[in-house]
Amino acid sequence: MDDDKAKDNWFGDWAAEYDETIGKVERHHNLLDLVVESSYVKDNDNILDIGCGTGLLALKFLQKSNCHITGVDSSQEMLDVFEGKINNFGLNGKIVYKHEDLENMEFGEKQFDIISSTFTLHHIKDKYTMIKKIYKMLKIGGRLIIGEIDLDTTGDIRDPKRLMRIMEYLKIEFSLALEEGGVNAFSRMYDNGKKHILNDGEYCVSFTQWEKICQKANFNTINIKAVPDFEWFKVLVANK
Ligand SMILES: C[S@@+](CC[C@H](N)C(=O)[O-])C[C@H]1O[C@@H](n2cnc3c(N)ncnc32)[C@H](O)[C@@H]1O
Repeated sequence: MDDDKAKDNWFGDWAAEYDETIGKVERHHNLLDLVVESSYVKDNDNILDIGCGTGLLALKFLQKSNCHITGVDSSQEMLDVFEGKINNFGLNGKIVYKHEDLENMEFGEKQFDIISSTFTLHHIKDKYTMIKKIYKMLKIGGRLIIGEIDLDTTGDIRDPKRLMRIMEYLKIEFSLALEEGGVNAFSRMYDNGKKHILNDGEYCVSFTQWEKICQKANFNTINIKAVPDFEWFKVLVANK
């Protein structure tokens, strides 16, 4: 099985239980809320949500304003869950989605007021190329908003110091997942942890690194905020 296929199955298998596991974790919602709050979204804004998954972030944007959302995700199973919500809440005129890998994503230049991405860009290896592509798709004055784990997993996977650095985060992640999301959430995060350690489809960088990548891609002001009571999760807003 090639890398892409394995990745599709990983998210495909997760889709049915995503909202019942990660979707029950409080700090995940706190990060999504901070993304929406930091976006200054307003009525009629055109938003692109990269790695939209089951639509948790899209629904929060729509609770805040009468905006339009385009979601992109490579997992049909995640999108099926999202579609169920779009139909249930009668949001067909407000949300469209594309089943596509981000590496192949093509939109016209200067189309979006806001481009958001939560817990997805760390799956992309070549971050600079992706951020440059996002920059082009944003209108002048538009914002890129990244919600991610502030974790540097770069380096040699045989380096024990790197392992200890990642374990600092994982020990907290595991215990909170168990406490807030139960055994299923813990089990999912435990499997995920190994992927972080082995850089197996998970390539986290720190927010200092994200900031440098955004500066290199020409973004103007860049602000970074931590999720209240959870410094490992941060939100970056970069203005074009
Ligand atoms: C951890 S989930 C986050 C979902 C959602 N943004 C949230 O915060 O709940 C990551 C999502 O990114 C999608 N994804 C991962 N790699 C992708 C890629 N290369 N292209 C498109 N989507 C991708 C997965 O299918 C999954 O839905």
